[in-house]
Order: sequence, then structure tokens, then C-alpha cells
Amino acid sequence: MKQLACLVVMALLAPSLIAADCDTKGLIVEKSFLQSVHDCTEYLQIPKERLMQYMANEFPPDDETKCLLFCVGVDLGWWNNTCGLQVPSIVSYFQPVQGDKQYEKRTRECLERRVGAIESPNSCCQAYETFQCYFQEFGNLVTCPQYVRSTKLQATQAALDCLVMLRYPEKLLKVYASGKVEDSPETRCLYHCIDLRTGLYTQNGISLPRFFVRDSAYNDLRYLSKETKACRDRIRQSGCDKCTEVYNTHKECLAGLGEEGYTSGIITAAAKIALMNLGVSCSQDPKPCATKPPCHTTCTPTKPTHKTKSCPETTKKHCSVCSNLHEPAKHYSSPAANVEPAVAPSHVGRKPFVTCSKCSGGQVYNLPGRAYRGHVSSCRRCGGPTSY
Ligand SMILES: *[C@@H]1O[C@H](CO)[C@@H](O)[C@H](O)[C@H]1NC(C)=O
Repeated sequence: MKQLACLVVMALLAPSLIAADCDTKGLIVEKSFLQSVHDCTEYLQIPKERLMQYMANEFPPDDETKCLLFCVGVDLGWWNNTCGLQVPSIVSYFQPVQGDKQYEKRTRECLERRVGAIESPNSCCQAYETFQCYFQEFGNLVTCPQYVRSTKLQATQAALDCLVMLRYPEKLLKVYASGKVEDSPETRCLYHCIDLRTGLYTQNGISLPRFFVRDSAYNDLRYLSKETKACRDRIRQSGCDKCTEVYNTHKECLAGLGEEGYTSGIITAAAKIALMNLGVSCSQDPKPCATKPPCHTTCTPTKPTHKTKSCPETTKKHCSVCSNLHEPAKHYSSPAANVEPAVAPSHVGRKPFVTCSKCSGGQVYNLPGRAYRGHVSSCRRCGGPTSY
């Protein structure tokens, strides 16, 4: 029903309005377990026949399958190559059975038994056994796409994008780069922009389940507590502007939770990059140089400011040198082909309605040997939020 409503809205409203409701935006990634399995079979070049087996929820203990699940774990953010399991992220892909009070205990014991017992630990083995424990003991696999947290590197990119989009002056960038991220209208709106872009701030306000996943390594359950929710709601209902709502929620409700100084840290890192970018001079399009033999005419700099970067005096007669010099830039000769993956990962928006309609069907895979009828994992709207 919700998905149908989504389609109707789609037909009636302007694209900008739809984007807020049915689509992901910015750098936000929502991904289903099966989409990740599919993607990882491609990355690892696992034969198509095996994909059919995985789609049927069979994950036999062979090396190929073990490394597939390692790949899925990294892709969905529940496995970290150095630190291993990231509980908040994996938990979002499994829905405990209603009334089951033992699932956490069983999962914990399973992890001790199976992961603890691995004789010669390797990442594929550990990720596989971990998955098996959640799959068999924690609950049903959730079919809906779930929020995949941004890595710090990605969050820093989001902060950099925001600094550029909000057109903050160099003077302010220098203050941020020095490590001072103090309260001001600009800082408040920067927090707002970053949280929007990384999916932490949605139409429904600050998403506490997503913050919980963002700080996966901390597994800080206080993000999901009644007190934190009440604090968030109080600020949201106080009638302040959105920038202030986001900033005050960070300061009043989320201070001391999860990773200390996460947002100010990425702002400082992003401001440093932004300042570095200001010093970069842009090279000329290298294409004429590579394609036209009379190098010296096409490579002669037209703008004096670009002289050093685009075509040094000493090399202008040698086409090959000149084109070598610009080799990396060739990569950008077809912007359309290059921009897409960076801005919107291929799985996002490729088949939005397939994803949506999947959710309207069975939300969870039934595991053999247990009764899961009548249970519905929360997929409240298209690409709905993590179920908690
Ligand atoms: C793994 O986790 C650590 C600590 O949270 C982090 O510093 C590191 O970047 C993570 N590795 C990857 C590949 O994300």
C-alpha cells in the first residue's frame, strides 16, 4: 500500500518533492542484504549459478561463500577489516522473532562457540561464522534496504561538499581548520547540511537509529533510549529553525554518546581539504594535446595563470611529454561516465520501485524450523529507516 501511495505521489508531484519521500539523496546509501550479495558476486566474480543458491538463503561453508559474506559484511558496514563485527550495523539486518527473549543470549553464545573456536583466524571465516550466528540465532533476515553508515572518509567528503555548497568564506575555513568549531549560525547550518547529506537528519528529524549505526564501533544503546528520544523531540517541537534544531540536538541530546567530537572532527578535516583545494590551479583540457600532433600550438598556455600546471615551456614541443603530463586528467574527459558512481552508487535509484515493491511483500525470510508467521519487520515507507 505504502509503495502504491509512493507511486501515486510520484505521478502527481514535482520531482523535488518526491525525492524527499521515496528516494535517497546526498551520500546516503540504503541497501538490502540481497542487493549486497548480488553486488559482491560481481566484485568477486562468483559464478551466476551460485547466486541462485544464495538467493535461496543457502550459504554452505565453502571458501567462496565465506569470502562472499566477508564482502557483504564490508559492503553493508557490519564487518570492519581491522576491528571485526560492528553490532549496530548487523543488527539492522536481522529482526528478532516477537516474544523471543533469548535471541541475544543465543547469539552471544554462538559467537563464542563458533567465532571463538576458529583455529587459524582469517577474515572470511570470521565474517562467515558471525553471519551464521545472527542468521540462525538472532532472527529473520530483513529484506528491506537498510541504512548503511558512511565511513569517516565519506562523512568528511559530505562535510567538504557542504562547505562548498554553503559557500563559506576562506576566513571561516581557516577557523574550522584550526580545530575551532564554535557555535554560530554558519556552524549550525553546517551541522544541518552534513546530517542531511549523510542521512542522519530526515523528514522526521534527527534519526537516532542511524546515529546508532553511524557510531557502530561504540554500540552505544543510549542512542535508542527513551531519554534521548524525549530530548530530540523536545527540541524538535520547540519551534526553532532546522539548523538550530540539528545543532542543539547534537549539543543537548547527543553529547557524550558514541564517538566524541565526530562532527566537529570531520568539519576540521574537511576545512583543511577545502583550503588545500583553494590553492590548486586548474589545468587546461589535455585532449587537444593528445589528439592533435602539432603539440606546440595546442599546448601553449592561453592563460598565464595556468602556465606552470598546463604546459611547461620546456615541454611544449614534445607532444608525448605533454600528454603524459596530463595523463590522469584524461580520466575526466567524459564527465557523465565518471560522475555517476561517485554521486549515486549504482544500486541507489537503479530500480527504486523493485526495491519498494519487494518491501510490500514478505518483509523477512522465514528460517526453517521456526514459526515466524504474522511477524512484520518495520519497513514503514519506501526505503524505510532501520527497524528498531
Ligand atoms: C575500522 O574501525 C576503525 C575503528 O573504528 C577505524 O579507524 C577504521 O577506519 C575502520 N576500517 C575501515 C576499513 O573502515
